[in-house]
Amino acid sequence: MPPMITEPPVGYHFAPLTPGTPHFAHAVLLYLTIWPADGGVATITDFFTRYAALPDYHGLVALPDDHAEELAGFGFGARSLPGDWWHERLAAHVGVEHPALQDAWGLVDLAVAPQHRDKGIGGALMETLLAAQPCPRALLSTEVSNAGARRLYERHGWSYLHPGFAFNPGDQPYAVMRRELAR
Ligand SMILES: CC(C)(COP(=O)(O)OP(=O)(O)OC[C@H]1O[C@@H](n2cnc3c(N)ncnc32)[C@H](O)[C@@H]1OP(=O)(O)O)[C@@H](O)C(=O)NCCC(=O)NCCS
Repeated sequence: MPPMITEPPVGYHFAPLTPGTPHFAHAVLLYLTIWPADGGVATITDFFTRYAALPDYHGLVALPDDHAEELAGFGFGARSLPGDWWHERLAAHVGVEHPALQDAWGLVDLAVAPQHRDKGIGGALMETLLAAQPCPRALLSTEVSNAGARRLYERHGWSYLHPGFAFNPGDQPYAVMRRELAR
């Protein structure tokens, strides 16, 4: 496993991902360049904003030191709780009592702009968020087809809680990954 670096790579800095800020709007636009089928600006702004209001929300943007108006990447998540859409669908597949679902933090999104990838930003965003949140374990889902993301998560100590199911009928399958965190 690589060292769990909780600071930005040289040449970048992190700032909070907070609703109503320019960085927040830029993160929505970056999301839509990667996952355009998920909706438009209003839909994704609403999606991000709802997560930002959940318990133990943490979100970060990565910014180049010399172009701080350009967003290099972002990540966010919140406590995964019964009653939440994602948590309920996962519970339906693995059981609501599954230990991985108890006191767990969900990494909802992690994205780095193509020109800033493979520099350690994604890994550092993830580790910094995990170090900041209070839960002893974490969960995420990613497309089974997203081999690059799964490889990154595997290298960072995540393992498979479920090999893949469609969260919505007709969607592609998502693998669900879990990680126990050293506290
Ligand atoms: C997945 C994603 C977030 C990774 O971001 P990233 O900033 O490229 O991640 P890292 O740089 O930390 O790691 C990526 C690779 O670069 C390598 N790397 C890390 N630091 C490096 C450095 N300083 N120099 C060169 N390579 C480095 C890592 O070893 C890793 O290799 P791997 O692909 O073989 O695992 C990014 O590819 C992305 O946004 N993809 C589209 C959205 C997505 O799939 N999100 C995740 C699913 S929700």
